[in-house]
Amino acid sequence: MLNTNKIRKFFPAIKAGRIISNNAASTQVPSQLLDLLKKLVVKYENVHRGQSDASLETTREFEFAYDTIAQFVNAASRKNIVLYRNTTEAINAVMYSLMTEFKDGDNVVTTFMEHNSNYVPWYGLTKEILAKFGIKVECRLAKFDKVTGQLDLEHFKSLVDKRTKLVCCTGASNFLGTKNPLKKIRAIADASGYQQPNGEKKSYFLIDAAQLAPNAFIDVKSLDVDFLVWSFHKMLAPFGMGALYAREKLLLGMKPFLYGGDMIADGQVSPKKVGYNDLPWKFTAGTPNVFGTILSAQAIRLLLDFALNPGKNIYFGSHKKLALADVKQAMKNIEAHETFLIAEALKILGEIPGLTIYGPKDPLMRTSLVSFNYKNLSPFKIAESLNKLGVESRAGCHCATLAHYYYKLTPPASCRLSFYIYNDLSDVRRACLAVNKVLNNNK
Ligand SMILES: Cc1ncc(COP(=O)(O)O)c(C=O)c1O
Repeated sequence: MLNTNKIRKFFPAIKAGRIISNNAASTQVPSQLLDLLKKLVVKYENVHRGQSDASLETTREFEFAYDTIAQFVNAASRKNIVLYRNTTEAINAVMYSLMTEFKDGDNVVTTFMEHNSNYVPWYGLTKEILAKFGIKVECRLAKFDKVTGQLDLEHFKSLVDKRTKLVCCTGASNFLGTKNPLKKIRAIADASGYQQPNGEKKSYFLIDAAQLAPNAFIDVKSLDVDFLVWSFHKMLAPFGMGALYAREKLLLGMKPFLYGGDMIADGQVSPKKVGYNDLPWKFTAGTPNVFGTILSAQAIRLLLDFALNPGKNIYFGSHKKLALADVKQAMKNIEAHETFLIAEALKILGEIPGLTIYGPKDPLMRTSLVSFNYKNLSPFKIAESLNKLGVESRAGCHCATLAHYYYKLTPPASCRLSFYIYNDLSDVRRACLAVNKVLNNNK
């Protein structure tokens, strides 16, 4: 267990008495980041666009943030990191950047358990954009087991063939909580034999880590990931930032998603030819979210401190390189904390007769979220009643619309509780006992 007593006091929302149990949507912002924002404002200036001390210093902090983000996933350098507004935009960026590489007869394989962010862009690409140009590309969907919440790997494998340019999969489902076997999926993508334009013979593998990066260590090197995307608003940072990790070779060969200022090589713009900037700035067109970038990197640093030395600033506020062993240990501690919390939630909710709980039964196989339905009772009614008892939850399809239809749920909705590093057992018990109370009141 993490030392939540030491962590909770830094969260104004918790001090205000809220039970924060909708963390899979967004987590809370700690006071350290709010204080940092006040400090940064003194040096408020644009980056790469000025010679003042303020601009140079802000640029240094901004660029340094890319190093922190790269170190968090064990990427080789900042050249592998492109920052966008969120996971959704990062996936769209991959889609648009790769768009011109797709050939007639190709396919993309994704799954029925994806967030709409990792399905709808591929739907749009294959059914709308490429179709308009007369290029036929199929979007295939791998099934999962409705009882265990596990991906059907045999089915997955059967969908991947030598025309599969890209395999896309969530690292962890935001509805079922399932953590997916990423090494096995990598192996399936590797074995496809797809001939990529850069000479590589395999399908590219994109991992949607929106629900995995906040609570597990992801090593892009050992997983040999091609594309990894995640959002910082699910790991303590304020809204507005998401990351794309991609292999350097791919980024060098890819078309930019956004064209414009700062993404061009110095002076290399003429009516005939435009030369692009070095990585990662080739992908940073227009004035970026400077404070969002700096705060996202510092949120990572603070997360590590909370998980390793709560109350002490070892990484936060410093320029210290993230030691790989520390990142691993911190994320292991967070994962263990969340397993502990979700085990308690599953135990309490599992004792409620008539409650349908989705996803794996084993807490070790899932993240710290739990979605459920109760007979014919509307999940929206459950969530509204929970709110009256001071418990925050989310009802709806959580943008995992395909999976809700897969269960034939009408309306396609469930109620979800989700926990993070500042939640303790008493939050989990209060939230789950409130569910019991709401259901008893609606019998
Ligand atoms: C698995 C998964 N993918 C993608 C997203 C989209 O993230 P964002 O809204 O930050 O783009 C979410 C958000 O809930 C998610 O849980």
